Amino acid sequence: MATQTAPAVGTTATLTYNDKPITLPVLTGSEGETAIDIQKLRAATGLITLDPGFGNTGACRSAITFIDGEKGILRYRGYDIAELAEKSTFLEVAWLLLYGELPTSSELAGLTDEVTRHTLLHENFRRFFEALPKDAHPMPVCAAAVAALATFYQGAEQNGASLRQNVVRLIAKMPTIAAYSYKQSIGQPFIYPRNKLGYSANFLHMMFATPCDDFEVDPLLARALDLLLILHADHEQNCSTSTVRVVGSSQANLFASISAGIAALWGPLHGGANQQVIEMLERIEAEGGDAQKFVDRAKDKKDNSRLMGFGHRVYKNYDPRAAILRKSCVDVLGRLGIKSRQLDIAMKLEEIALRDEYFISHKLYPNVDFYSGIIYKAFGIPVNMFTVMEGRNDPDNRIVRPRQIYTGATQRAYVPADRR
Ligand code: CMC
Repeated sequence: MATQTAPAVGTTATLTYNDKPITLPVLTGSEGETAIDIQKLRAATGLITLDPGFGNTGACRSAITFIDGEKGILRYRGYDIAELAEKSTFLEVAWLLLYGELPTSSELAGLTDEVTRHTLLHENFRRFFEALPKDAHPMPVCAAAVAALATFYQGAEQNGASLRQNVVRLIAKMPTIAAYSYKQSIGQPFIYPRNKLGYSANFLHMMFATPCDDFEVDPLLARALDLLLILHADHEQNCSTSTVRVVGSSQANLFASISAGIAALWGPLHGGANQQVIEMLERIEAEGGDAQKFVDRAKDKKDNSRLMGFGHRVYKNYDPRAAILRKSCVDVLGRLGIKSRQLDIAMKLEEIALRDEYFISHKLYPNVDFYSGIIYKAFGIPVNMFTVMEGRNDPDNRIVRPRQIYTGATQRAYVPADRR
């Protein structure tokens, strides 16, 4: 749905292979970042590139999110993340990401109304949750439930309007799916969405209300959740977004593509890190709270512990989202009157790591997951649910189908079983 602006063409780069020079275009993005366009490389030379983990590979052009990992900058559509976090709401940011501009008040009212009216799940969905084991991890439950939405909305997404309708359905139903997966796991009845509540307040209501009691959503918690959703709304070509793009490049249905992205997000090196952070803090607390000892283990190459919530493929500076969450964490816990030993340990770990030569030289700073889990815990959200809380009109789109460098045996004759 995003508009794409073509980067200005800059200069060229020359590659010499077998004594023959090949000239390749160099593209420049709107923030001055440069890339060699190798789309003609194989046709001209027979060469492909090898880049495991794609650390040097641009997969698309995008006008949505800009990250400068060296300086610790994150902007959505040109707006600084700290300003959006302070002044915007999640649905406003969703509009911004989808359409490129902040919404007018009538556009926002229209989106809010549409999202509010699509929060219900088909009643048959109750049986879907009931069929799964009670102790199922919420991430595969969410991935499966989102994939199952594709069976309820089978219409083609051939034009912008039908695709947009599925985008609205997804934004609207995601909190209901997440809350139902939680209610199922604790054996409480599902709580229907309430149209008079805002997006984040409605989620907290579906999570924590019961039919037996009145439940008032704390506006402080609803705002803190909205902030978390803003900070996680987009992050360029990260592992889950790339997965969605790979699946979507085959023109698979939106729900199927997003379900694959949720599976990618589950991993401990990606979104699953917030659960790992809390488990790490719990372990340190249980072992007497010695933060220095854990930092020493994380540096020791013979020990495979890592300081979870530290380090990032792109940020080689403080992740700006971590700075916002650190402040929010202190604020939320303070206003709720919660004394968290784990927040104290997290701050101590950060203080030690930021002065430590290993972390300085490896440019390892807190990332978004370092403090988010502590806030989720304060909400009363179970640890294994943390990760749950977190384009198709690209003119360059082609089905994603990378090549490889083959390192196996060369051609050989089949060996019959009696001669092996
Ligand atoms: N603790 C200790 N050492 C680390 C850490 C860490 N958290 N992260 C990286 N290193 C070291 C690593 O051992 C390696 O050292 P050396 O070069 O001496 O062998 C060097 O730093 C580079 O690490 P890498 O794994 O090659 O870097 P990467 O860009 O492939 O991985 C990362 C990035 C985020 C997966 C990694 O930093 C990590 O595992 N961090 C902990 C998990 C985590 O917090 N993940 C959440 C990421 S942010 C949210 C998201 O994007 O989903």
